[in-house]
Amino acid sequence: LSSIRVDISGVEQGTQLTVKWLGKPVFIRRRTQAEIDEARAVTLEELTIDKASENANKPGTDAMDENRAMDEAGEWLVMIGVCTHLGCVPLGDGSGEFNGWFCPCHGSHYDTSGRIRKGPAPENLHVPVARFEGTELVLG
Ligand code: FES
Repeated sequence: LSSIRVDISGVEQGTQLTVKWLGKPVFIRRRTQAEIDEARAVTLEELTIDKASENANKPGTDAMDENRAMDEAGEWLVMIGVCTHLGCVPLGDGSGEFNGWFCPCHGSHYDTSGRIRKGPAPENLHVPVARFEGTELVLG
């Protein structure tokens, strides 16, 4: 498996970095407290489309935000930037009805945790194998 290292020290709160890994975009977002609070206020019952974390680092866990963020405080969210419907790249920075990401191809709305909330996409945006090493994020 090919892994890459990304320096995340320059990523400001409320912004995201997009890198390419294995031919796919990967979104590395440093969330604001408001985004974290919004994500953590959502109950499993509200996640009617996909209740699984879809997090390769935590297989078998549910889609509560704590199981999707990279760190305990929830500041870092890392996801494959590919819509789980037919593979378009969703728009970020608070897009869509749930203030997260929006896929313009067929109208899928993802929340501030990257979970599918409305539209044809069947799964939450996938979280790839990743870990922190100092100020770097290692993908893969
Ligand atoms: Fe994203 Fe269809 S590819 S909604």
